[in-house]
Amino acid sequence: MQPLDLKSLFTPFPVLFTPHLELRALRQGDLADLYAYASDPEIDRYTPWVHYQSLAEAQVDLNGFLAEYERDGLGAWGIEHQADKRLIGIINISPPHPRNRRTELGFTIARAYWGRGYASEAARAVINFAFDKMKLVRVEAVCLAENQASARALVKAGMQYEGLLHHYQIWREEPRDLQMFAVTAASSPGDSEL
Ligand SMILES: CC(C)(COP(=O)(O)OP(=O)(O)OC[C@H]1O[C@@H](n2cnc3c(N)ncnc32)[C@H](O)[C@@H]1OP(=O)(O)O)[C@@H](O)C(=O)NCCC(=O)NCCS
Repeated sequence: MQPLDLKSLFTPFPVLFTPHLELRALRQGDLADLYAYASDPEIDRYTPWVHYQSLAEAQVDLNGFLAEYERDGLGAWGIEHQADKRLIGIINISPPHPRNRRTELGFTIARAYWGRGYASEAARAVINFAFDKMKLVRVEAVCLAENQASARALVKAGMQYEGLLHHYQIWREEPRDLQMFAVTAASSPGDSEL
């Protein structure tokens, strides 16, 4: 198998279209939308990160996302709502394990847009990109058992529940039990059958 060349795969940054969304590189102009949804105290109920307390915190984070494009090639996709023309979330995959070709996916959607199928729509597009273009063999995602919206969105995106992993990650300085979901290239039905 060819070694993964992330710089080439992500230059130019791959823009992915879904029925309602455009997944594209984040940019400085996203700051106001990013701050608006990620300063919502409801947004971090089940996440390892804490909602923004200030615009300055959002700016630091946004600068970090932009620096990742330069440093790693790979970076997060901003989720733009095609009709509303605004950033409504972020979806990312971790740098893939070079030999085992697996990655971990994570997503966030602004509360005003929850329950419209956008997280699963975005995840399907990224999973297809990971298999078709990056030639990965497995995409996984973890969430707390209480995060039923996340679990459901992952299943709708084609993933299967694989079990509860004890103290799998440290979130906010606490080891947490996390539900593991995954889809493999071999088992993925692809976009057409979902
Ligand atoms: C998790 C999250 C990304 C889901 O986004 P979304 O766009 O609303 O997801 P979708 O609409 O694609 O799917 C959500 C599904 O969960 C269901 N759902 C929502 N809340 C639920 C609950 N409390 N119990 C059971 N199902 C629930 C929805 O009805 C929907 O399923 P359906 O289409 O079969 O009706 C969003 O809630 C979010 O950003 N949460 C905060 C950040 C976060 O938790 N990220 C994940 C960290 S692991």
